[in-house]
Amino acid sequence: MSWLHSVLFLFLVFRWCIAVESSSTEVTDDGAPMEISEREALYSTIQGFVGDSWNGSDLYPDPCGWTPIQGVSCDIYDDLWYVTELTLGLVHENSLSCAASLVIKPQLFKLNHLKSLSFVNCFKSSLTISKEDWISLGSNLESLEFRSNPGLIGELPETIGSLTSLKSLVVLENGFDGKLPTSLCNLSSLKRLVLAGNLFTGKIPDCFNGFKDLLILDLSRNSFSGTLPSSIGEMVSLLKLDLSNNQLEGKLPQGVGCLKNLTLLDVRNNRISGGFSQNVEKIRSLTDLVLSGNPMDIDDMMGIKWENMGNLVVLDLSKMGLRGDIPYGLTKLKRLRFLGLNDNELTGTVPSKELETLPCLGALYIHGNNLTGELRFSTKFYEKMGTRFKASKNPNLCQYDMVSGSSNYVPPLGVKPCKMKKAEGDLVTANLWDLARVPVGSSGRSEADAAARQCLSPFILVGLPAYYVIASS
Ligand SMILES: *[C@@H]1O[C@H](CO)[C@@H](O)[C@H](O)[C@H]1NC(C)=O
Ligand SMILES: *[C@@H]1O[C@H](CO)[C@@H](O)[C@H](O)[C@H]1NC(C)=O
Ligand SMILES: *[C@@H]1O[C@H](CO)[C@@H](O)[C@H](O)[C@H]1NC(C)=O
Ligand SMILES: *[C@@H]1O[C@H](CO)[C@@H](O)[C@H](O)[C@H]1NC(C)=O
Repeated sequence: MSWLHSVLFLFLVFRWCIAVESSSTEVTDDGAPMEISEREALYSTIQGFVGDSWNGSDLYPDPCGWTPIQGVSCDIYDDLWYVTELTLGLVHENSLSCAASLVIKPQLFKLNHLKSLSFVNCFKSSLTISKEDWISLGSNLESLEFRSNPGLIGELPETIGSLTSLKSLVVLENGFDGKLPTSLCNLSSLKRLVLAGNLFTGKIPDCFNGFKDLLILDLSRNSFSGTLPSSIGEMVSLLKLDLSNNQLEGKLPQGVGCLKNLTLLDVRNNRISGGFSQNVEKIRSLTDLVLSGNPMDIDDMMGIKWENMGNLVVLDLSKMGLRGDIPYGLTKLKRLRFLGLNDNELTGTVPSKELETLPCLGALYIHGNNLTGELRFSTKFYEKMGTRFKASKNPNLCQYDMVSGSSNYVPPLGVKPCKMKKAEGDLVTANLWDLARVPVGSSGRSEADAAARQCLSPFILVGLPAYYVIASS
């Protein structure tokens, strides 16, 4: 070999080595610099969802710079830009919408700087995602969301448990079914776990003792069965616990009383029985307590010191097979806006006057019981409540036929007028009329005004349906 040939040969080898080495870190030459492989992975990923006619390099040559893509955010690491947030599907009017037949391209899992990945209104035709390679996103991904994807079916992939940096996992209103993977227990950094509105079955895994940072746990609207996991009581930071609309049974775990920061406890429409856990009254922070539609079947609602739960705003104890009197302690809950006691077997009289003094009360349902005696609410109260007051289907309850100066007054539907002696009736009517018109400026009035002002505080109800939302009066 001549000298020239040797040099040429070495030069070629050298060129080849450079080419091989730089092919993985080749950088885009205009705009925000990023690895070409990162940019190509982004284009392929989106094309898989949007359809082949979408040409990223044509439309968005500089996706982290001057031609941003709706739903894509980037961040800089060591002078290069990487995709950190990706939302696929129709969020805004100008979002890229997902095609009817889409593919999850393997390039998605090469975007390993992703912190947040969301699929919203995207999967419409049936698809399972069990085999995808979540592990490669494990070290960085903090938020994973599947919202409103009726096409997503099958089980949640076991590999989801490798996403140990996740702080938020939202799997809301999709078609997922089957049992939850036990690997979910791995995700103990979670602050928010929402699996609501799917078709999940089986027991809720009893592994929440490690979830010390969890603030929101929402497993509502699935078909979970079995008993409530006792480790629920160990999620010390929990603010909202929603297990409503499942087929859960057994008692509320004792540990629930240890959730000192809990504001919402919603277990409505399950098969929870065995009476109230006395521990519920220990949760002083509770604002929303919804236990309706569980066959508690208990005699003594008085067993709970309701007056201790002074932060309650929404209390729904309907359809629980409750017996006994309406507990007097309920009339001490000054912040109460919604009180549901309907469709039980409650007896005794209605503490009308005491309930009427609750300044925030905007909905009161006592229908479908066996309450007795006279309703003694004022016309003003009925005007305020409108259809949010129901007392019908209490065969032994009656209502005075009141005289009202206002055309807005509608007597409570389905409650028969009391039979009364003339003189007595006039007396009672007069009393009620007084109650409705406490003179302005009297001390009673200003107290009531001050209390009513409390009700005007901004009222944002997270996690409960509109039925419970009572506008401030
Ligand atoms: C996008 O367009 C460019 C040029 O306009 C073309 O070279 C490229 O092949 C197209 N890519 C795809 C995936 O269609
Ligand atoms: C749980 O996390 C550990 C690392 O913290 C990981 O090694 C393991 O594979 C994970 N388990 C599952 C089922 O993903
Ligand atoms: C409960 O809330 C308070 C006030 O927001 C907070 O300081 C405290 O750390 C919380 N407790 C737990 C166990 O998270
Ligand atoms: C309702 O209570 C009355 C007594 O006040 C009782 O005679 C009647 O049997 C009860 N009805 C039902 C359905 O429990």
